[in-house]
Amino acid sequence: MRIVLGVGGGIAAYKVASLLRLFTEAGHDVTVIPTEASTRFIGTATWEALSGNPVSNSVFDDVPLVNHVRLGHEADLVVVAPATADLLAKAATGQAGDLLTNTLLMAHGPVLFAPAMHTEMWQHAATRANVETLRARGTAVLEPASGRLTGADSGPGRLPEPQVIFDAAMALVQGQSDYQMPLAGRTVTITAGGTREPLDPVRFLGNRSSGKQGVALAVAARNAGATVRFVAAHMEVPPPAGVEVVRVETALQLREAALEAANGSDVVIMSAAVADFRPAEISDTKIKKRDDTADPVITLVRNPDILQELVEQRNGGAGGAPQLIVGFAAETGDSQGGVLAYAEAKLQRKGCDLLVVNHVGTDKVFGQDSNSVVILSRSGAEPQEASGTKTEVSDAIISRISFELNHVSPRA
Ligand code: CTP
Repeated sequence: MRIVLGVGGGIAAYKVASLLRLFTEAGHDVTVIPTEASTRFIGTATWEALSGNPVSNSVFDDVPLVNHVRLGHEADLVVVAPATADLLAKAATGQAGDLLTNTLLMAHGPVLFAPAMHTEMWQHAATRANVETLRARGTAVLEPASGRLTGADSGPGRLPEPQVIFDAAMALVQGQSDYQMPLAGRTVTITAGGTREPLDPVRFLGNRSSGKQGVALAVAARNAGATVRFVAAHMEVPPPAGVEVVRVETALQLREAALEAANGSDVVIMSAAVADFRPAEISDTKIKKRDDTADPVITLVRNPDILQELVEQRNGGAGGAPQLIVGFAAETGDSQGGVLAYAEAKLQRKGCDLLVVNHVGTDKVFGQDSNSVVILSRSGAEPQEASGTKTEVSDAIISRISFELNHVSPRA
């Protein structure tokens, strides 16, 4: 496929090098057209080297090739990233002052804008009107991600992750013209991994959680367009790119980080394996084995139930709707009851909206790449099964969450 990649004059231009790599590695022929302003951030040599094609931003280069007509005509797809407020305005009003804006006017195929700018600029009435105009014409304009901006400020205005732009672009070409990332503009907090409760400076009580399911969930939420706040306890895998990571160790630290991240989140997913108990006392020095004293006894105290606290303090995301809270349950079942019976009781007890139930044993789930879950809903909907790789299971969970957010009536 022939892709024209327009690069606007914003600091996020550096991230577009990764987007270009995604396109070329998928076998596409990419011509980069940077605006004059963008070359102050990334020079044309970078685009030439990465794309393997000549780069120009002037209608007066290679005049016999009539580039200002040809590039737009021949492109199967035009992607503009970062789409600055200035570029959106120029595209909305049909200006043609440089090679990129000419190409946009000549484009026959789908056009995708991935905006990045300061929050005030994105929310300004002029930009809103330009985005409306472009969308009304059938041009796809992604929602920017929320989070830290160039300065000390934060809010909506970050360039969506390269993988998100890539996926949206591919969906657009495949004719999904109504393609909207289901979690665009949403903020999702995900806790992952297993907490560790120290006994002394070298020992802890821990659990078998690898963090793989939490990472897969974060990737699925990110790819669905969400801004992801990822609270990571101990994990055997690294956190994914493109999410805000807060590292924690103990249940108490996880509680603090989760409550803070939940503030302003549309969704909170408690996939972390949180220790229910912690040692009542932590020794400052290493506990020594001594022949002259009795074997040590470790007294445990209860950790707070974070999921329950989140439900009690439930607040709304940026859209003002009540938060959707998702719990996980690792159940083995026993002689007193089956896995689903215990899970149903847990869902009612904890008051979360969805409960993702794993059937666990020492050989099941923990550290494995595949998983099989049942999603229970407090709204009384039929239990939904999902199985496959942890990525497939995560995609199913995230699409269920998107459905609940976008189609199910507000939660109590
Ligand atoms: N959880 C939590 N805070 C805790 C313990 C668990 O927020 N102190 C969360 C987990 O992240 C998970 C859900 O609660 O989303 C279920 O955890 P689980 O340990 O399976 O349930 P428990 O409440 O501990 O119930 P039980 O011990 O009866 O299995």
